[in-house]
Amino acid sequence: MPRAVRRAAGGHVLHRRLHRTYPVAVRGRGSWIEDDQGKRYLDAAGGAMVVNLGHGRAEIARAIGRQAERLAYVNGTQFTTEPLEALASALVEVAPKGLTKAHFLTSGSEAVEAAVKLALQYWVERGEPGKVRILARRPAYHGNTIATLSLGSRGTYRKYFGEWLRGVPRIAGPTCWRCPLDKAYPFCAVACADELEKAIDALGEETVAAFLAEPVFGASGAAAVPPKEYWPKVREICDRRSILWIADEVLTGMGRTGKWFAVDYYGVAPDILAVGKGIAGGYAPLSAVLAREEIVGTIGRAGHDFQHQQTFAQTPVICAAGLATIRVLKGRRLVERAARMGPALLKALGGLKRLECVGDVRGIGLLAGIEFVADREKKTPFPREARFCERVAEAAFERGLIVWAQGGDADGVDGDSIVVAPPFTVTSFEIGQIARRLEEAIRVVAGPGGGRGARS
Ligand SMILES: Cc1ncc(COP(=O)(O)O)c(C=O)c1O
Repeated sequence: MPRAVRRAAGGHVLHRRLHRTYPVAVRGRGSWIEDDQGKRYLDAAGGAMVVNLGHGRAEIARAIGRQAERLAYVNGTQFTTEPLEALASALVEVAPKGLTKAHFLTSGSEAVEAAVKLALQYWVERGEPGKVRILARRPAYHGNTIATLSLGSRGTYRKYFGEWLRGVPRIAGPTCWRCPLDKAYPFCAVACADELEKAIDALGEETVAAFLAEPVFGASGAAAVPPKEYWPKVREICDRRSILWIADEVLTGMGRTGKWFAVDYYGVAPDILAVGKGIAGGYAPLSAVLAREEIVGTIGRAGHDFQHQQTFAQTPVICAAGLATIRVLKGRRLVERAARMGPALLKALGGLKRLECVGDVRGIGLLAGIEFVADREKKTPFPREARFCERVAEAAFERGLIVWAQGGDADGVDGDSIVVAPPFTVTSFEIGQIARRLEEAIRVVAGPGGGRGARS
């Protein structure tokens, strides 16, 4: 006799997926989640690339509990608090060089939006109010609010909201396996970075406030890693053309790529950075905007305040979760562990290339992406209607494996990938399980040969 009922339609929760029956998750430990039927799931996506420390960490729970008993909430416009100050210091210590100011919010979308507002306000205070455009890329995902949907390029997420969305100028991103410029690295001389300068020329430097992009692609772009020259080149262009660079490290920050921040691989730092997801390991909703002193100082010297405020900004109980998370990451050397386990994950997933439908396997640290194709030679994507990656993720879920499905990256509509991003505590045994269960799931969808039957 089941102890609890699986909740589908009929309850009062407005679930994201209206036609799915959700299992009831009851506990988690390490890389595993258990539902109320006793079924165990290997969480190879950390939920949504969030659970970096693993599930069930008592020290984080205790830190939250202690702070909740002492002082759960004060408004960020009225007080500062010990966990807030300590978290800002701890974050700045690991952040890319020069990012010395931190403001804390509760989601990645908010952090990206606040980062954009900070850039816009900076130019106004500098006496250049005409710099209002934010240049973004394709593919890109920056959040789900109206403003961040405008900044992202996911067609399916945008389709109902056309009237409300702004047109955002966009350049093609460095998705090398599927180069938008039809070139090949290193012969391309990283021409995709020059696209930024061309776009600035076309728009007029005096109208562009900032360039917003993910340093390493997260879900959109499925863990594609730009060539080593890309970000230094972008940094140089931004400096020369007086454009701020906003790095969206909501997904890639806090050790996911094997360094504290993905930009650390490139030896350059952005002017503003947004971080979220793993910053509190899933134990509390936390995100942050980091900025250079000069940006905040410009606003201060103008006699103004940072024009952004939200009720739960800088909340002490949430900051306590973030602080405890950073302490665990450092104390247990988990970022180093992500770097160490990354190659093993990529090697295990690399075995999937024996399946015809697997076009590419890539990534860095514990962030891996698998891109599927209907025709490997021509890199033809499956039609979106086939829901190939969603079906793989569903088949994996049935087999007790959680991975992240991402559609639409090949051309804005078609394209299928899976992102794998397990907790940094993942073991070699679990990595083997991830590869084995994922292969089974792909074969269920594509046929036993791994290349047919994709058109459902
Ligand atoms: C790169 C990136 N930016 C922003 C966001 C938005 O974060 P949130 O879902 O916490 O609002 C996400 C979420 O997936 C993301 O991957």
